[in-house]
Amino acid sequence: MAAPSNSRERSELVLLCVFLGMLWETGTGQIRYTVPEETDKGYIVGNLSKDLGLKSQELAEHGVRIISRGKTQLFALNPKSGSLTTADRIDREELCAQSARCLVNINILVEDRGKLVGIEIEITDINDNTPKFQAENLEVRMNEIAAPGTRYSLPEAVDPDVGVNSLQSYQLSPNHHFSLDVQTADDGTITPELVLERALDREQEAAHHLVLTAADGGDPRRSGTVRIHVTVLDTNDNAPVFAQPIYRVKVPENVPQGTRLLTVRATDPDEGTNGKVTYKFRKINEKHSPLFHLNENTGEISTAKNLDYEECTFYEMEIQAEDVGGLLGRTKVLISVEDVNDNRPEVIVTSLFSPVLENSLPGAIIALLNVHDRDSGKNGQVVCHTPDNLPFKLEKSINNYYRLVTWEYLDREKVSMYNISVMASDLGVPPLSTATHIVLHVADTNDNPPAFPQASYSAYIPENNPRGASIFSVTANDPDSEENARVTYSLIEDTLQGAPLSSYLSINSDTGVLYALQSFDYEQIRDLQLQITATDSGDPPLSGNVSLSLFVLDQNDNSPKILYPTFPTDGSTGVELAPRSAEPGYLVTKVVAVDGDSGQNAWLSYRLLKASEPGLFVVGLHTGEVRTARALQDRDTLKQSLVVAVQDHGQPPLSATVTLTVAVADSIPDVLADLSTLDSPANPRDSGLTTYLVLAVAVVSCVFLAFVIVLLTLRLRRWHRSRLFQATGGELAGVPSSHFVGIDGVQAFLQTYSHEVSLTADSGKSHVIFPQPNYADMLISQESCEKNDPLLTSIDFHECKDQAACIKVS
Ligand SMILES: *[C@@H]1O[C@H](CO)[C@@H](O)[C@H](O)[C@H]1NC(C)=O
Ligand SMILES: *[C@@H]1O[C@H](CO)[C@@H](O)[C@H](O)[C@H]1NC(C)=O
Ligand SMILES: *[C@@H]1O[C@H](CO)[C@@H](O)[C@H](O)[C@H]1NC(C)=O
Repeated sequence: MAAPSNSRERSELVLLCVFLGMLWETGTGQIRYTVPEETDKGYIVGNLSKDLGLKSQELAEHGVRIISRGKTQLFALNPKSGSLTTADRIDREELCAQSARCLVNINILVEDRGKLVGIEIEITDINDNTPKFQAENLEVRMNEIAAPGTRYSLPEAVDPDVGVNSLQSYQLSPNHHFSLDVQTADDGTITPELVLERALDREQEAAHHLVLTAADGGDPRRSGTVRIHVTVLDTNDNAPVFAQPIYRVKVPENVPQGTRLLTVRATDPDEGTNGKVTYKFRKINEKHSPLFHLNENTGEISTAKNLDYEECTFYEMEIQAEDVGGLLGRTKVLISVEDVNDNRPEVIVTSLFSPVLENSLPGAIIALLNVHDRDSGKNGQVVCHTPDNLPFKLEKSINNYYRLVTWEYLDREKVSMYNISVMASDLGVPPLSTATHIVLHVADTNDNPPAFPQASYSAYIPENNPRGASIFSVTANDPDSEENARVTYSLIEDTLQGAPLSSYLSINSDTGVLYALQSFDYEQIRDLQLQITATDSGDPPLSGNVSLSLFVLDQNDNSPKILYPTFPTDGSTGVELAPRSAEPGYLVTKVVAVDGDSGQNAWLSYRLLKASEPGLFVVGLHTGEVRTARALQDRDTLKQSLVVAVQDHGQPPLSATVTLTVAVADSIPDVLADLSTLDSPANPRDSGLTTYLVLAVAVVSCVFLAFVIVLLTLRLRRWHRSRLFQATGGELAGVPSSHFVGIDGVQAFLQTYSHEVSLTADSGKSHVIFPQPNYADMLISQESCEKNDPLLTSIDFHECKDQAACIKVS
């Protein structure tokens, strides 16, 4: 079982193992066999029948067989002999490699007894492998000046066997110069070393041939060899020398990666391989070494990465040249990096004062800028500027700081936000520049009063408007923002006809809509002048005014008012006189009416509505003149009654009527008689009244006669004038008189007919009245009478006066 060992400890260990194994074997009934490797097939491993206590022939009867987990069966059962045999050739090295013990476990089943028996088979090593070197030949080169004692590691041989069958020793072929030293490591491996015993001399012996033998301790002993060819090398007398002790080179920072910077060159006067040098960095800052690449054969230094002047401007390194013999030369390389304008200026807005009030004084600081360029020299000098069209300028401050200030007042209403671009350029060639945008908001101040689009407004409102009607709307604009643009409207207090304006109108302070608080009457108020103030909500508030003229428009709300003839409220008869001898077209009287409205609403027309004797009288449509239509006849009744309607042209028209009484008589006494006959039954008066009446009629007749004469002369004169007028070709001759009718027309007629007499019977005294001064007071202005308009009247006012005087005298 355990093989004898040259090591006492090892044999003791094996003995212990065997002893323990036997103990275990008896305890468990396990069977142990030993078989050497590499035996032929059918080699008897053990007498199984004997160990199982069975006869050899009975094995089959008991159903004894091997049960094994492995795929390949290493062992077989020989039923004839009852022994366990090898099933094939077994290679221990293949099965267990370098393990010290190689054990295989199989199980035997005795089927009829149901018994399982474990069998442990140890495969023992035989010396079937030879120690082997990797190469058959080894080239060793040694310098002739190598000192005795110099060691050279030799290759080791490998023997896969174990124990004594593995590698045990090395041997070197005998020679004068070298010896072999074998080192044993802790794990028992041994390594051979060549030791130079005596100095070599290439000149004596340029080469040495040695044989190293590795042997194991098996029986028979096996061994492997390697042939060692030692070449003695020539002495390397000269160290490499660099052409320059210091190399200097300048390089712009922007050279691309891989650019050749310089080539260092060292020469070695030795011949052949001794003259061959290799280069490498000897001393270089750790951080810098990745930046450069040194070709160890050519000495060419190139950049391995991009250089940056801003990071490092100067590199210093030492380079050594080494020849084959290990002799060294060294040199210094100084690399200066030159600045290139490769950095744009940087502008940092350190503070920004936005928004800025629009009323800030010129020179207000907007922003503080810091300008920096990483380049140096001109490349790093920076100038800044802003566009000229903006109200900002840059002022230089200390240490590359700039102040951005205003140079004029800002106006938020013109520009509420500025996008200021600050251009920073360096002085490099070509220059690099950076644009920085500063967004500045301008804050509002209340610097604009609210303004109305028009200086004044006119508004029209029909009279009789409902209360609370909105009349007009004004809007003022304030270009400021927010509160400063919030406009409220108010009316400036004033009085109108003694009452405060605010009792007539009110304005919505928010919307500017004007409301009427009262119903306006055109006949009372025709226009209003008011002032509206718009005030913003700024602090302090600003305001703007606008004037508004409000015109009340007429509506046909007044019916014509008859001025003449009036009802005799004072008890007079109100009778008009028409002599029987009157020609057709004789002017009996004139109905005079006025209308409080104006324009069409006051343009009156007259119609005869009813007559006691139809066809006897006509009424001038626009004049209101009542004239006879034909000659009066005897059969015409003394008292004629007429109803005249006056109507305006409003929409809808309004009208009034008046009843006239015309007395038809031949002479004044007739009239008086007639009247008395007329009046006595209807209105019996005392004798005093009759006396007065008679007296009055007499006076009237007298005056009438005089008046008729005067009138005739005037008519003659007028006829004569109109002839003259036609002869001079007056353009207005064809114009119908109705076109001139209006309130002026009324005046004209009144003027014309102020001469006409009217007869009024007074209760107290009977006298003739010329109504002209009364009418004139009411309707005729002094000027219009004095104007003496030839178209309207042929009588001037002086004549009127004269007549009045004349009548008074009479
Ligand atoms: C094995 O042992 C038995 C006795 O148990 C013996 O009869 C037989 O001959 C032996 N076989 C061999 C091959 O030695
Ligand atoms: C300012 O102007 C620049 C260029 O004109 C533009 O790119 C930028 O968007 C502007 N900034 C603002 C806030 O308008
Ligand atoms: C507006 O009118 C009022 C009153 O007439 C006056 O006191 C005020 O100064 C005016 N405001 C302006 C801006 O004209």
